[in-house]
Amino acid sequence: MIRVWAPKSAADLEEGAALTDSAFDATHDPFQLQPTIKTVEEILAWCPKSVALLSENDTLLGFAFGWPTSEKSLNDFLYGSLTEQQLWDDSIGGNTRSSTFYLSAIVIKPAYQRRGLATKVATELLRRFPDVQTVGYWAYTREGGALMEKLKSVLPIEFKARA
Ligand SMILES: CC(C)(COP(=O)(O)OP(=O)(O)OC[C@H]1O[C@@H](n2cnc3c(N)ncnc32)[C@H](O)[C@@H]1OP(=O)(O)O)[C@@H](O)C(=O)NCCC(=O)NCCS
Repeated sequence: MIRVWAPKSAADLEEGAALTDSAFDATHDPFQLQPTIKTVEEILAWCPKSVALLSENDTLLGFAFGWPTSEKSLNDFLYGSLTEQQLWDDSIGGNTRSSTFYLSAIVIKPAYQRRGLATKVATELLRRFPDVQTVGYWAYTREGGALMEKLKSVLPIEFKARA
């Protein structure tokens, strides 16, 4: 059975962090949010529901990660003056009922792609934040851009891409 769940401990986030690194090589790109122990601790302390893990039985198939932020911080990121790490640092501790949200990463393991799982996990992540009206994103890959087009067509939310 497929389920989507929120992390309760650092161990729950470990495999997701490794998937992020294999998909985006974040460790070698200072513009991206770094999947470090510090970030994991900050997620758990501030807003654990910002991570939606997707599993089948006990196997992690992928996840979606994004967080509420202010309109100003999101715009500063989308139009270039903040890195993703700075957007995170600006957002943590803020209002988790903001109407503005940044969708940072969605990853599905290659063997499970093209079955609607990214659409499912992203939709369930956003459902946890019912106040959200605007979502910013950075498509990063061609299939990421295609996925965002799909999400735009099924969700009643405004999507804004990083320029
Ligand atoms: C992007 C990614 C998360 C999509 O996962 P997925 O589970 O295959 O996505 P879905 O099955 O929900 O597909 C949703 C829509 O996205 C589009 N799409 C997804 N993968 C695509 C691909 N390889 N080529 C073209 N369109 C694609 C399609 O429109 C698809 O809808 P459809 O199947 O009804 O045509 C996955 O390819 C992945 O993990 N890639 C590596 C990490 C990444 O680039 N993440 C995105 C940036 S954060």
